[in-house]
Amino acid sequence: MADKLIIFDTTLRDGEQSPGASMTRDEKLRIARQLERLRVDVIEAGFAASSNGDFEAVKTIADHIKESTVCSLARANDRDIARSAEALAGAARGRIHTFIATSPLHMEKKLRMTPEQVLEQAKLAVRFARNLCGDIEFSPEDGYRSEVDFLCRVLEAVIAEGATTINIPDTVGYAVPELYGQFIHTLRERIPNSDKAIWSVHCHNDLGMAVANSLAGVKIGGARQVECTINGLGERAGNCSLEEVVMAVNTRRDYFGLDVGIDTSQIVPASRMVSQTTGFVVQPNKAVVGANAFAHASGIHQDGVLKARDTYEIMRAEDVGWSANKIVLGKLSGRNAFKQRLQELGVALDSEAEINAAFARFKDLADRKSEIFDEDIIALVSDESVTQEDEHFRLLSLAQRSETGERPHARVVFTMGGHEQVADSDGNGPVDATLKAIESRVESGAEMVLYSVNAITSGSTESQGEVTVRLQHGGRVVNGVGNDPDIVVASAKAYLAALNKLHAKTERVAAQG
Ligand code: KIV
Ligand code: ZN
Repeated sequence: MADKLIIFDTTLRDGEQSPGASMTRDEKLRIARQLERLRVDVIEAGFAASSNGDFEAVKTIADHIKESTVCSLARANDRDIARSAEALAGAARGRIHTFIATSPLHMEKKLRMTPEQVLEQAKLAVRFARNLCGDIEFSPEDGYRSEVDFLCRVLEAVIAEGATTINIPDTVGYAVPELYGQFIHTLRERIPNSDKAIWSVHCHNDLGMAVANSLAGVKIGGARQVECTINGLGERAGNCSLEEVVMAVNTRRDYFGLDVGIDTSQIVPASRMVSQTTGFVVQPNKAVVGANAFAHASGIHQDGVLKARDTYEIMRAEDVGWSANKIVLGKLSGRNAFKQRLQELGVALDSEAEINAAFARFKDLADRKSEIFDEDIIALVSDESVTQEDEHFRLLSLAQRSETGERPHARVVFTMGGHEQVADSDGNGPVDATLKAIESRVESGAEMVLYSVNAITSGSTESQGEVTVRLQHGGRVVNGVGNDPDIVVASAKAYLAALNKLHAKTERVAAQG
C-alpha cells in the first residue's frame, strides 16, 4: 500500500495573514466546513492567543468540525499553548502547533535570545503542550535558514519531549527545490529519533517555488505532510497552493507513489469560496483553479482535444469540480428548491432564519436576473455571512445619473449605526461619484489601495459583477466584496463591507512578530 500524504490546510491561519484577507468567525466556519468536505486531514483554524476573535473562531471550528483534525497555532509559551488547548477543548481531534524561531538572524534580532535559551524554551513548550494534547506539531520558524547542527539539537529534543509532527518552514521563501529536499533528508538522517515524528513541509512562495519546494521536500526529503492553502493564499507572495500539490501528487502517482485523501471534486468550490470571501481574485491562468486552466483557444489544441481528450489534457476538469455554468433556478423556484440546491452545493446554513434571509435575497436577485447559476447562489450566501452585529453600515438604495459630456452624480441612502444617511456627490464616473458620496458622510479617511470588478459567471454581460475594494487605514488593510447585477451597486456594497470591517476593529498579535 502507498504511503499517505497528509494535507494540512492553513488558509484560515497563514492564509488569513495576507493583508486584507481577514475573515469573520462565520466566514471562517463556512470555509472550514468546505475544507472538511474537501477532506483535508488537518485544518489550522487560527492562532487562538492572538485575539479574542481568533480564539472564538478556533473554538467554533473545533466545536463543529468532526472529520478533520482542528489545529491552533501557539508561540512557544505557556499562555499561548493553554489558550490553544482551551479553544480546542470541544474538538473531536485537536492539535497544538507551537513554534519558535531558530535561525541566527531571527534569534538575535527578533527574539534577542541565545541559541541555548531558544532550545530550552522549545523543550519547555512542547513538554507543556504534550500534557494538554496528544497531537503536537513543532515548527522551528525560519527553519530553512537555521544552522543545521543547532537545528538537529532542537528537533531531537522536542521529539524526545513528545512532538508528533516536525514541520520545517521556509518562512521567507528562500529555498530552491533540490536543496530544500536535501535539507529535510539530512535532518531525518542525522536526528536519532527522527522516525518518532511525521515530517512536514511549509513553504512560502516569494520566488514562485513554494509548490516545487514542497514536492521536493516530499520526494527527496521523505516528508509526509504538506502545509498549504487554497489558491496559495498567504502573506506576501503566498503559501504553497493546495490544489497544485494535490493534483501533482494525484496526476503523477507514477512518480510520487503517494495517496492523498482529498475529494478533488471539491477543489473548485473551495477555491471560489475563498476567493469570494477574501476578495483575492484568482488569476485566469492559475493552474487547476484559474478560469483558463482547462480552456483551449488555439485551433490545433481544440481539434486535438475533440479527437482524443488526452492529447492536450492531463487532468479532467470535472475531477477538480469544474462544471459548465448551469441554469439552476429562476424567478418561479420555491424555497424548497432553493434549500435543496444549497444542500447540493454543500452550503450548510445554520438556522431556518439564515435560510429565509438567503431566500429573500435570492428572490430579489431573481426579479432582476432571469437565470441564476450556482456561482450566483454561492455569492448570495457569502453576502449572507455578514451578520447583523457586524453591519454598522448597510446600503438601502442608490440612484446615479451619467450621460455623455456630463459629470456623473450619485445619491446613496445607507444606514450608519442604525441611522439613515442620504449622501450626494459627483465624480469622474458613476462608481467614483457613489463612493465619494458614501465617504462624504462616513469620513473614514481610509485610503483605497485596490478596486477590481469581475464577472461572477463568465461569458455574458448578464452576469453579476463582483467588486473588491481594499482599504488601508491606521496600519490595517481590509477587503470588502460586493455582488450585484449592477456594478455601481456592487461597488457601493463592497465599499460599505470594507468600512464594516474597519469599524469592527480587532487587535491581534502577529504570528511571526
Ligand atoms: O512561515 C512560517 O514560518 C510559519 C510558522 C509559524 C509555521 O507560518
Ligand atoms: Zn508560514
